Amino acid sequence: MKALITGATSGIGMSIAKNLRKRGWELILTGRNEKILKHMQKNLGGTEIITADLSVKSDVFRVYDFCKNKNIDMLVNNAGYGLFGRFDETDLDDEINMINVNITAVHILMKLFLRGFRRKNQGIILNVASSAGFLTGPLMSSYYASKNYVVRLSIAAAEELRREKSDVKITVLCPGPVSTNFNRRAGVTFSVKPITAEDAADYAVRKALAGKLIAVPELTMRTGIFLSRFVPHRILAMLVYGIQQRKESDENTGKI
Ligand SMILES: NC(=O)c1ccc[n+]([C@@H]2O[C@H](COP(=O)([O-])OP(=O)(O)OC[C@H]3O[C@@H](n4cnc5c(N)ncnc54)[C@H](OP(=O)(O)O)[C@@H]3O)[C@@H](O)[C@H]2O)c1
Repeated sequence: MKALITGATSGIGMSIAKNLRKRGWELILTGRNEKILKHMQKNLGGTEIITADLSVKSDVFRVYDFCKNKNIDMLVNNAGYGLFGRFDETDLDDEINMINVNITAVHILMKLFLRGFRRKNQGIILNVASSAGFLTGPLMSSYYASKNYVVRLSIAAAEELRREKSDVKITVLCPGPVSTNFNRRAGVTFSVKPITAEDAADYAVRKALAGKLIAVPELTMRTGIFLSRFVPHRILAMLVYGIQQRKESDENTGKI
């Protein structure tokens, strides 16, 4: 069995790579950091690497071309990042870049791999979204919106597969806070205790192999997402604003 993992150089992606390798899977890993990719290739064995910037469309297609004849069984769309700030104040170029990584690259790879998986009626797509994918996120508005896109796209495509009784499975991982480089990149600190990347990865892999559609690690997050369905949108936005405000790090506010 072979998996392509995006964003494999850090955090959840790196832990998914290690987890799958332990289960005997061969890997194709991608990210921008070639040094880390080479280090992982050497340490893990059974691993190919391809350096790519997924904010660049031609790089996304280059990754697909590299993999398309290699009998991939699982696509892990994990690369992504968040930006903190008022919608009218965040840097537009950085935000478009984030949309390219969090949405466009996920969309392109999912579509191209799904076509191949459907033809052979076999394959797993594991999209790493977030619990943010069920919410409206003032102060991280475009990040939350990007993860809503991934959640809805995954559920919709899974329903199309279910209708034709396909053996191709889609899992969308929706974690709350996970201890990785994510918050440093986003310029926030977590307001609740994060889970480890290893635990998030193990949960994701187990649910993907079991064919579960929506995978939310931690009972508290599952309960929160369930209860959020009964809260009006504007009230939910007010509540999330409060949570996001508390996440603003000292680094972001210039206090350190
Ligand atoms: N940590 C959390 O609290 C949390 C919660 C919910 C969901 N998530 C989601 O989990 C996923 C993984 O994040 P993480 O927490 O593991 O953060 P992380 O440690 O910062 O890892 C992010 C990964 O994405 C890759 N990446 C970022 N920009 C890229 C680009 N332009 N081209 C190619 N690869 C790129 C990075 O690789 P390079 O730097 O080598 O390019 C890195 O491997 C993301 O989709 C994130 O939204 C995280």
